This record gives sequence, structure tokens and C-alpha cells, in this order.
Amino acid sequence: MEAFRVERSGPLKGEVHVPGAKNSVLKLMAASIMAEGLTTLTNVPEILDVEIMAELLRRLGCKVEHDLTTATVTIDVPAKIGHKADYDLVRKMRASISVLGPLVARCGEADIALPGGDAIGSRGLDIHMQGLEKLGCHVHSEHGYLIVRAENGLHGANIALDFPSVGATENVVMAAVLAKGNSNVDNVAREPEIVDLCNMLVKMGAKINGIGSSVLEITGVEKLNPTTHHVVPDRIVAGTWAIAAIMTQGDITIHGVKPSDMDLVLEKLRDTGAEIKSVDDRLNVSMHTRPKAVDIVTLPYPGFPTDLQPQMIALNAIATGSSMVTENLFEARFRFVNELARLGADVKINGHHCLVRGKDQLSGAPVEGTDVRAGASLVLAGLVADDVTYVTEVHHVDRGYSNFVENLTGLGANVKRVEM
Ligand code: UD1
Repeated sequence: MEAFRVERSGPLKGEVHVPGAKNSVLKLMAASIMAEGLTTLTNVPEILDVEIMAELLRRLGCKVEHDLTTATVTIDVPAKIGHKADYDLVRKMRASISVLGPLVARCGEADIALPGGDAIGSRGLDIHMQGLEKLGCHVHSEHGYLIVRAENGLHGANIALDFPSVGATENVVMAAVLAKGNSNVDNVAREPEIVDLCNMLVKMGAKINGIGSSVLEITGVEKLNPTTHHVVPDRIVAGTWAIAAIMTQGDITIHGVKPSDMDLVLEKLRDTGAEIKSVDDRLNVSMHTRPKAVDIVTLPYPGFPTDLQPQMIALNAIATGSSMVTENLFEARFRFVNELARLGADVKINGHHCLVRGKDQLSGAPVEGTDVRAGASLVLAGLVADDVTYVTEVHHVDRGYSNFVENLTGLGANVKRVEM
């Protein structure tokens, strides 16, 4: 089993480059199957989930190449594609569910293994299904698969999502762009990754109005064309590096960022006392004292992202003062708090609230990284804990962070990947 061996490290200093967003690239890869021919994605992160999605697309009949030197993925989509996503891939990566909308749009049918629960919570699919049913799909589950059929084709519809779910918005939009007629989709998610997906669909020939707002008006088109698209920067990875600078009282310049996608995050980070300068696609984050604790409430965008909640709990654990962190999206996200407590953090959970009383010192110990963000957050905590911290289950971190250890050591951290 692989682990990260983390030693207490001085202030992290230097430069780091942020790649394209995991939560965008996987959906863009899924969207590519809606157009026959060659789609090219640039600024692709070097993460395990991209390889899993590539394998899923290959099994549908596509030729997929990932050139690591140019950070480019090319997807050659044949005239006829398969319509099945098997359990062995879906269980490894929940984002596999995002081929559902494209498959029903392209083939009129999709058989997708049900993903089950995962490390951060139960993660329902009801909103995806309600939207697709309105567009003309019949949905049932059988032998662990979700069977979706649109025998008479897809037709436009008025849809109001119960909740602005990222995944449901993506599936419904991808199906609606190839449906016959007009759709009006209300209460959609507005995450920058949704905007990125809509922008790529428009380049492919889709007609979508209201991109970036809560209501999307879609006029169905007969076919889409392949395109070339640059993946939006990963605001969660950028936020993780910013928090690393603050926790270690360092000075990091983060390149390849889109600061306008991070307004609330940057405001909260400034509240810790950090100095943050943003110029074009660069963020400089520096910190000279122990951070001040800040309250956080996770909400759909433009609210505070749930994917930065664990990192903020780690920061609050070593801050001056106490804070309340409220998680509104994924009920099991606080699982990692018990691991942080093993490092000596003073944390108390009550329902979806976590009270964090800052301590001036954490204490190194072996801990388990329960999901991608939890693993990264425990590494950050290990950097400011005394002695040595071992973070296990690092395959989660590899799913979301390109060259995590190499980037950290480049900033002066004492971190190694080891066999346990
Ligand atoms: C995506 C991201 C995840 C990120 C999240 C919020 C991927 C693979 N995952 O997850 O990293 O943390 O957005 O930005 O891109 N819900 C239902 N029924 C549904 C759909 C969702 O009850 O049909 C609930 C979920 O259980 C959760 C909430 O809605 O409590 C938000 O889920 P959603 O926005 O769909 O997140 P994901 O797309 O799963």
C-alpha cells in the first residue's frame, strides 16, 4: 500500500501551475461522444480519473490518446458507438454517470451501472432521472444497471430541478441540446465547470442561452460537430495551494488560475489575514502570522465549494480562535474530521456543523485519506504537525491532483511517496 510520508516543513515558497479542472474535463470527455469525429481537449490534468474516463470511452468504441507532454487528450468518435458503462469502471469513478445524457442523446439508449454510495455520501440520481424522463426517456433499474431508453427520441421540455445539482444539470443539458424542440431548464447549477461544458457544447453547434445563470434555454439541434477546447482551470486545486501557503506561513505564486471563479474563496482566505494578489491568471498568496479562524458554509456555486471544506477545516485547526464549518452538500464529508482529530485537532461534529477550536500545534500520526480532498487536507495538516505523519489511501489524492508530491517538494515541503 502506498502512503505519503509528511514531515513538518517550513514555509512553502515558490511557484506552482494549476492544470484544467477534474470536475470539468471528465464531463467534456463525456460530451465528446455526442459528435462523430476528432475532439481535442487541452490543459488536461494528469490524474487517474482522466485515464478511467478514457478507458470508458474506448469501451464505447472511441480511440482516445492522452499526450502527457502537451496535456492534450484526443477522442476519435466513430459513427456508431456502444451504449453501456460497466460496473468495474463506474465503481472506480462516479463521474462515469456523466456519459448518461450524451448516450441517450446520441444512441437513444444507455445502460449504466449504478454507482452506489461513495466516500463522501449517498449521492442520489433522482434529479438526473426526473430531468431525463421529462425529455422523453423511460428509466428503470435492473441487475444493478440503470436502463434508460428514448424509443421515440428526445423532445424539448420545461424542467425545474429540485436542487441545483452539478451532475444532474450536466446530464439534462447534454441530452436537451440534441432533443427535438425547445427546453427551459430552471434551477440549474452555475459552477464554472458547468459554464465550461456549455461553452464547449456551443462550439460544437449547440444552442444554449443563459449560460452562467440559473435558467438555461436550449434549442435542440440535429447534430453536433467535434471541436477543440481548453479546459477551465481547477479552482479547487488552486484553492488547495493557497491554503497550503497560509497554513505554512509561506509565499506561493499559483499560475494558470481564473481568479474570477474564486471570488468567495479568496474573500474567505483574505479573512484569515493572508495577503492575496491577483494579476491576470496568477495568484500570489503570502502569510506572515498564524491564520485567523474563519466560518465556512458550503453551498452550490457561487457559495463556498464543498470540495475546499476539508482543507479549510485543516486550516482552522491551527488558526487562532474558533470557527463553525457547515457542510450542506455531502453528509459523509466530515468522516475525515476523525482522522484530523488523530493529529490532535480540537474538532467537534454536531449534525452538519463542525466546531473547530484552533490549536497552536498538531501532532504527527498515521491517518487515512478517506477521499480526494480529505487526503490532500491531511497532507497539509501533516506539514504543520510535529514529527512525521503518514497519510494512507493516497490513490484518492491521485484521482484529483496532478503530481501532488512533486509540486509539494518543489515548494520546499518534506513529503515522499512510500510503500507501507
Ligand atoms: C460534483 C463533483 C463533486 C463536487 C460536487 C459539488 C464530480 C464527479 N463531482 O458532484 O466533486 O463536490 O459536484 O460541486 O464532478 N443529489 C441528489 N439527487 C440527484 C443529484 C444530486 O439528491 O439526482 C444531491 C447529492 O446527494 C448532494 C447534492 O445533491 O447532496 C449535490 O450533488 P451534485 O451537485 O449533483 O454533485 P455531484 O455532481 O455528485
